[in-house]
Amino acid sequence: MLTHEENDMLTQTGPGTPMGELFRRFWIPACLESEIPSADCPPVRVKLLGENLIAFRDSNGTPALVDAYCPHRGAPLFFGRNEECGIRCVYHGWKFDVSGKCVDLPNSPEGETYRDKVELKSYPCFDAAGIVWAYLGPKDRTPPRPGFDWMSLPEGQTYVRKYHLRCNYFQALEGDYDPSHAAFLHMTRDLATPSAIQDAAPTLGSLLGNRSFLRMKYVSYEETDFGMLQIAATPEADGTQTVSASTFYFPCFSSAGIAGPGVYSSNMRIPIDDESCYMYRFRWSYEPFTEKQRQTDLYGGFTYPEQIPGTFMAVENKDNDYLVDRILQKNYSYTGIKSFPIQDLALVEDQWGPRADRSLEHLVTSDEPLMRVRRRLLKAARELQEGQEPPGPHNPESFSIHTARVSLPGDVPAVEAIEQIKELTHGPTASPRIHAA
Ligand code: FES
Ligand SMILES: [Fe+2]
Repeated sequence: MLTHEENDMLTQTGPGTPMGELFRRFWIPACLESEIPSADCPPVRVKLLGENLIAFRDSNGTPALVDAYCPHRGAPLFFGRNEECGIRCVYHGWKFDVSGKCVDLPNSPEGETYRDKVELKSYPCFDAAGIVWAYLGPKDRTPPRPGFDWMSLPEGQTYVRKYHLRCNYFQALEGDYDPSHAAFLHMTRDLATPSAIQDAAPTLGSLLGNRSFLRMKYVSYEETDFGMLQIAATPEADGTQTVSASTFYFPCFSSAGIAGPGVYSSNMRIPIDDESCYMYRFRWSYEPFTEKQRQTDLYGGFTYPEQIPGTFMAVENKDNDYLVDRILQKNYSYTGIKSFPIQDLALVEDQWGPRADRSLEHLVTSDEPLMRVRRRLLKAARELQEGQEPPGPHNPESFSIHTARVSLPGDVPAVEAIEQIKELTHGPTASPRIHAA
């Protein structure tokens, strides 16, 4: 449990808040590349960390993220004309380039000189892995691009979809660090199910029967420049041990399990404001995806739930109780809600509301990983308040490690097993399927 003050610090990311400042030291997703698909495309509204912005591409295809409102008299630039390397406000014609410089101020005789005194708030952006990345922090601290391995992978080895979640970013994020929920929330009762569910869903026997999180024989938590590395070992009935490594990356990225052999996932929850966020659900591989994998994930409706056309909202959402089916719940699945991601969504969008008050909680030992992530973030936010910059953004290579899992003989000592699994967090490794949030 946290105090009220800690809970506020963790969950508030607007300008000037401690966590908001920490977020403003990292490159974060602003929108999908496909939302601003071409040079001189129409602008789109983007709300990020409580700031109202618009994104567009100029005539050279350079992505831009600027204030949603014109500095002249506050007109919405969403209705602007995107023309000849700049966005022009349609109220009185002022025009700005991607850096926010006013390049034309045509409604006044002093326009030629006064325009140098006018600036539109703008943030630097770049394109990578289907996402437009933006940095909202102080210009003199702009970090290099993050060093995630997947950022430089070619097309065909990544895919991403974005979802609008109606809850605080941290509420959505911490579900990925809640090891005991999968054995309940995501459980199904038998194997007589369509193959897409069989592929994705653990069963009564495999999860509730085992409850591997109760059998873990050691867990180590290491604070790293990128965030936190957690290593756990679980003894198996055949005398082996399963050793796994999972990661938390500042400020809001999780590795979210391994989605299949050689397929990794990353979940990114990006605050829109304090009661809503976007989730970028990302899959990547060091090898090109098979067509079956890609089609199943993207269109099977389980890994990437269907969306209401023209929105980022899942068809199964809070307004329709996620289409919970009470007959299904009695006879087949623990929840009666169809897919893993929607099962998670149904629970996290309303934990005492969209921004949970964690002072009300009663945590138990199996909640330790999420407590660790909270502490890690709070510590970094407090250190930044005291003038200590987070090291991660300026050590981008540290972000290149990823989730891993391996089976080892049961008598391999902890120190040795930890060393072995750490080796596997670098570069390609074939890994068995585990729960991917
Ligand atoms: S409000 Fe934009 S030019 Fe006047
Ligand atoms: Fe989950």
